[in-house]
Parts: sequence; structure tokens; C-alpha cells
Amino acid sequence: MHLLRGFPFLFFFLSLLALSQQMGAAEIHLSSSSFSAALETLQEQIGYDFQRVYLLRRAMTHPSYSLENCRALSILGLSAVEASAALRLLLNDTDASAETVSRRIAEVSGVNACAASGARLGLEKIVRVSPGTNSSSPAVLCAAIRAIFGAVAVDAGNIDSAGNVFWNVHGGSAATAM
Ligand SMILES: *[C@@H]1O[C@H](CO)[C@@H](O)[C@H](O)[C@H]1NC(C)=O
Ligand SMILES: *[C@@H]1O[C@H](CO)[C@@H](O)[C@H](O)[C@H]1NC(C)=O
Repeated sequence: MHLLRGFPFLFFFLSLLALSQQMGAAEIHLSSSSFSAALETLQEQIGYDFQRVYLLRRAMTHPSYSLENCRALSILGLSAVEASAALRLLLNDTDASAETVSRRIAEVSGVNACAASGARLGLEKIVRVSPGTNSSSPAVLCAAIRAIFGAVAVDAGNIDSAGNVFWNVHGGSAATAM
């Protein structure tokens, strides 16, 4: 009799336990306070202080995680980086050929370059993705870092700021080539 009466409570407890584990899974990446702390550090790393930090928050949110995500910012960021790469090249050499401009754009803004920059910043540990998504994959890292540049452009209200942040975080070849 006692045992039977205890059953619904046991069931209730087990349900609570299961629920709390599910909630734990959603937060598998970072708790919201460590996410905020990571965004602070990220701003120092890229050398840009956001007026509207929610833009950076959105940039660090993959489409697999939320409908409110980095995609639109990422498109803007890629355009900004491409324009900045072409401008730098042509400022130095107005006779640069179309092929040279295209090659430079591909070099500095292609998947290899942005995945490397994203990994250098440790974005795989910050960007919010769904549990099944690999945050170290080049596609995720590139979407995230491009979205950072896009977020900077929107925050600053201009493209130059995005270009500056891009050259801050872009390591290697272009730094020596420029
Ligand atoms: C995630 O992606 C990285 C980079 O492509 C790869 O090295 C790693 O093995 C992947 N991890 C999983 C769990 O698939
Ligand atoms: C600038 O352009 C010249 C060609 O006009 C080239 O030789 C030089 O390497 C370029 N400098 C940089 C820093 O890209």
C-alpha cells in the first residue's frame, strides 16, 4: 500500500530529473554568464568595443541554435572583407589585374583563411550551436567570424570599421603581403 502510494511521486521525480537533464543539454556549450564573459574577451581580442553587444551575441549564434542568428550579418561581413581586400590591393597598385584582385580576394576571404582566423580566436568554444553541430567545422567558424565583421559594420554604421577589425584578426600571408 505504501509502495503504491509512493509511485506517483517517484514518477514525478524521475520526470523532473529527465527535464533537468534536457535543459542541461541545451546549455551544453556555455552558461549564459560565461557566454557574456566570452563576448567581453572577444571584443578585446578583435580590438573593437561594441556599443550594441547584442549584435555580437547574434553573430555568435549559429542558425542551428536559433532563428535569431548570424546569417545576415555573415553575408554583410563577407562583402566587407572582400571590398577591403580589393581596396587595399588597388590602393597600392592601381594597375593590378582583374585576376590579381580576384586571387587576393579569394586568398584573404576564402574558407581556409576565415576558418583559420576563427580557430585562432577560439570561436568554436564561444559560438552557440545545436548539440548535433560541430562548432569546429570550417563552415561554422567562417559563418561566425564573418558575422563578427558584419556586426562591427552595423554597430559602427560603416564598412571601414569592419575592414579594420578584419585586418586586426587576419594573420599570416596578407599581413606580410601588404
Ligand atoms: C569537427 O570538425 C573538425 C574540423 O573539421 C574535425 O577535426 C573534428 O574531427 C570534427 N569533430 C567531430 C566530432 O566530428
Ligand atoms: C605594391 O605594389 C607593387 C607593384 O606595383 C608590388 O611590387 C608591391 O609588392 C606591393 N606592395 C605590397 C605591400 O603589396
